[in-house]
Amino acid sequence: MKHPGSCQMLGYFAVLLVASLQYAASRDLRQVSEPKIPASCESLKGNGGDETSVLQKALNSCAKDRVVHLASGTFVSGPLTIPSGVGLWIDSGVVLKASNNPKLYDTGKNLCGTVNKVYHGCKPFIHMTNAVGSGIYGKGIIDGQGGVKLTGKNQSWWDLAHEAKIKNEHQNNPFLIEIANSRDITLYQITIKNGPNFQVVVSQTNGFTAWGVTIDTPASAGNTDGIDPAGSQNITIAHCSISTGDDNVAIKASNGPSRYISVTNNHFGRGHGMSIGSDINDGVSDVTVTTLTLDGTDNGLRIKSDRSRGGLVTGVSYTDVCMEKVAHPIILDTDYSHTATGNLIPEYRNIVFNNIKVLTTGTFTFDGFSDQKPIQVTLNNIHIKKGSKWVMKHAKISGKYAEDASGSRC
Ligand SMILES: *[C@@H]1O[C@H](CO)[C@@H](O)[C@H](O)[C@H]1NC(C)=O
Ligand SMILES: *[C@@H]1O[C@H](CO)[C@@H](O)[C@H](O)[C@H]1NC(C)=O
Repeated sequence: MKHPGSCQMLGYFAVLLVASLQYAASRDLRQVSEPKIPASCESLKGNGGDETSVLQKALNSCAKDRVVHLASGTFVSGPLTIPSGVGLWIDSGVVLKASNNPKLYDTGKNLCGTVNKVYHGCKPFIHMTNAVGSGIYGKGIIDGQGGVKLTGKNQSWWDLAHEAKIKNEHQNNPFLIEIANSRDITLYQITIKNGPNFQVVVSQTNGFTAWGVTIDTPASAGNTDGIDPAGSQNITIAHCSISTGDDNVAIKASNGPSRYISVTNNHFGRGHGMSIGSDINDGVSDVTVTTLTLDGTDNGLRIKSDRSRGGLVTGVSYTDVCMEKVAHPIILDTDYSHTATGNLIPEYRNIVFNNIKVLTTGTFTFDGFSDQKPIQVTLNNIHIKKGSKWVMKHAKISGKYAEDASGSRC
């Protein structure tokens, strides 16, 4: 092999420099390392009954930078607010159950626990708002009880979601954990299951870390996104395992852009995949997905919008991703809801796929809006299974793929 000349070398370093600058700017801008559980202010034992007021009192009186320690047993609770600077430590073996009494979550409109044309009828189970440095820690479980019959009803939260889908209305179900207008919030190690609705929603927040979190909710649960950063910045999702009934992760952009997002070293089981969208009108950019395995999700790497939503998605890279049993390993879709109307054009630019391996056949879709606004994608080192389908419309794709994926496990 010939040695490159010095001119070529310079060019090479310039490319590397530009590449590394882009890389540096496209992820969580904070330095994030494994969280630590803060010292406790109080330790509680659960007796299996409703302990909403005990828990809320303990949280309200806990000193900043301390955590309320749930040390043993099972707790049942209605909505809880974690105050600024305070944490909740759910220790190994402890279960914190969300009460299945819809009245406790009602926002005052008597809607919670109903199927209706209007929604937002429920408060979330755990709420952090205008909080700085709050968090939920520990190897215990938060159980949303989505499949359990509601108090005074013959239906579970998931039954309501199912009914709403059939009627084309909305289920008034609580989010499990909602973080809004906050800064530097941490979820560490906890297991979240059976959410009645979206499970972790992070909106208008700067600085959020989910580390070592497990989400384990059945496919039949319906509308149960795992983690949804929305209009939020400086986000890290790392070392998590997510299986659920809807998007495993969905990066959205309501009331402001979402950007500086790192999704690294995660495993996704059942679910609708690693999604950007559908609410991306204010733009999503600077997202880095690295070292991800997807096993049995419907979609793999997905960006979705339509003409009623629009939105610019740019500066997204996916690196070192392995998939198996994924029907749509890559799906960049600008026509998500075929019946949508409007003139908002979704644009996906500077989307880069590096070192992607897909071990089973699937359909790869690059469906741009028009030749004036094509999807712009770069492919590096893409190995897919022979017999896969490749669908392209209004797409500018540089790089190639090879139909040579081998091996049976990621
Ligand atoms: C993201 O984090 C960086 C580094 O801590 C900080 O400088 C920046 O202000 C944050 N972004 C926003 C939108 O606050
Ligand atoms: C509740 O639902 C079950 C099965 O879905 C049905 O058999 C039963 O009759 C219902 N009970 C009432 C009170 O609606």
